[in-house]
Amino acid sequence: MNDIFYNISFFAQNLLNNVILSGDCVIDATVGNGNDTLFLAQKVGEKGKVYGFDVQLAAIQNTASLLEQHGLAEQVQLIHDGHQNMLKYVNRPVKAVMFNLGYLPQSDHKIITLPETTIEALRQSTQLLQTGGVITVIVYQGHSGGEREGEEVALFLKKLDSRKWDCLLWSFINRSPMAPYLYLIHKRGG
Ligand SMILES: C[S@@+](CC[C@H](N)C(=O)[O-])C[C@H]1O[C@@H](n2cnc3c(N)ncnc32)[C@H](O)[C@@H]1O
Repeated sequence: MNDIFYNISFFAQNLLNNVILSGDCVIDATVGNGNDTLFLAQKVGEKGKVYGFDVQLAAIQNTASLLEQHGLAEQVQLIHDGHQNMLKYVNRPVKAVMFNLGYLPQSDHKIITLPETTIEALRQSTQLLQTGGVITVIVYQGHSGGEREGEEVALFLKKLDSRKWDCLLWSFINRSPMAPYLYLIHKRGG
């Protein structure tokens, strides 16, 4: 389990490990290769529900196969649409939302998350989040626009009322300044 400190995606999953319970409803805002979707599907179990969003059909199809292989397709609704439209599809409180920004490594690097739609999706996520719930956002700075996207996310989070929200930042201080980093948003009261 030492990988959780090396790999920021595993680190984010580990932070959610004790937050998400069997039967919960959660969102994967950036499905990609489906690693987070698979993690979420295992956590919520057959009584729970995962909504997964991606703008790339290949990401949705590959993740559907991955879930089938693990016998976890039943509790997941994969949606071929942008996360900025999540309120069209999700109308119940959610325990967690995972964002893994940027592009899909083995895919078209021009298809990236963008500040405007990311912020809109975050705004909708805060609306859907139940008390005690958590949003994780991994930011990648290595591609054009990635740094600005991270800054926009920070501006949005700084405006959240500190009496209701805890917003944290994890980053590697002994790696390249361009290394990915993680925001965590917790809604108090759970
Ligand atoms: C870094 S990858 C996600 C990796 C994924 N979490 C995993 O475990 O494999 C980012 C994904 O965001 C998707 N994406 C880009 N813009 C999006 C949007 N507006 N809504 C939803 N997904 C989007 C890309 O197509 C890409 O698959």
